[in-house]
Amino acid sequence: MIKKCLFPAAGYGTRFLPATKSLPKEMLPIITKPLIHYGVEEAMEAGIHNMAIVTGRGKRALEDYFDISYELEHQIKGSSKEPLLKEIRHIQNSCVFTYIRQKEMRGLGDAILKGEPLIGQEPFAVILADDLCVNDNEGVLKQMKKVYNKHQCSIVAVMEVPRNETHKYGIINPIKQNGGIVQIADMVEKPSNETAPSDLAIIGRYILTPDIFDILRSIKAGVNGELQITDALKAQAKEGRVLGYKFEGIRFDCGSIEGFVEATNYMYGKS
Ligand code: G1P
Repeated sequence: MIKKCLFPAAGYGTRFLPATKSLPKEMLPIITKPLIHYGVEEAMEAGIHNMAIVTGRGKRALEDYFDISYELEHQIKGSSKEPLLKEIRHIQNSCVFTYIRQKEMRGLGDAILKGEPLIGQEPFAVILADDLCVNDNEGVLKQMKKVYNKHQCSIVAVMEVPRNETHKYGIINPIKQNGGIVQIADMVEKPSNETAPSDLAIIGRYILTPDIFDILRSIKAGVNGELQITDALKAQAKEGRVLGYKFEGIRFDCGSIEGFVEATNYMYGKS
C-alpha cells in the first residue's frame, strides 16, 4: 500500500526570479491554483492522503496554504466568493500534512533522504510539483500505483524527449518494453546527446521502495556535486528492481518559463 507522498520543495526556483525571491516556486499559480495544489490533487486521486513536504528557508507560504486562515474564512463566509475556497477546503479536510526542512541544497537525492523521518520504512510516492501532469482519465500517479501494486518494485514515470534535451533529465537504458512498462538496466543523470543511452527521460513522478534511503546514504554526490536520486535508482536498476512506466497524459515542465506558459494556456483553455 502506498500511503504517503513526498514533495521535495526546497529548491530556489531561480528561473522565476524575482518572483521567487519571496515566493516559493511551488506556490506560483497556474490560473488560480498553485503548482503544489495540482500535485496534492494528483496524489489524492491516487488514494494518498498523507503529504510529506520537504521545505526550506523562505517556504512558509506552503505551510500556510494548507492550513486554515481564520480571518479569510470569517470574511468570506456566506459571500459569493466562498465557492472559490471549495477545493482547498476539501484538501485541508481530507489530508494530513507533515513538513521537514532541508537546510542546505544538496540535490534531489538529499531532499528525498531528508524526508525519511516523515516516511519511515514503507514504499512511498514522490511528486516534483514543477512537473505538472494532466490526463483526462486517471492521473499519472494513480496509473503508477497500479503498476506498483502488480510488480512491487520502484517505478519511474518516463517519456520520450528530443535527443538534444537529454542533458536536462535522468535518462534510462531500457532493456525490454511490454505495453507501457519498461525494464530498466541502467540510468544516468543528465547525459549529453552523445552519451545518452536512449531518449527515454524520467519525469517527476516516482514510487520508491524504502531501501532507497540506505542507498542514498551510501552513494556519493554525482552530477553538479549533488546527491542524485537517479544514482540511487541506478543501484536498484542493476538488480532489476526498477520499472519505467510510459504514462498516459501530458506533462508540462513548469520549472521553465516556456512550460509554465504552455500549462497556463492549456488550463485556461480547459476552464
Ligand atoms: C530532476 C531529476 C531528473 C529528472 C527531472 C524531471 O532534475 O534529477 O532525473 O529527469 O527532475 O523533471 P531537475 O529538473 O531537478 O534538474
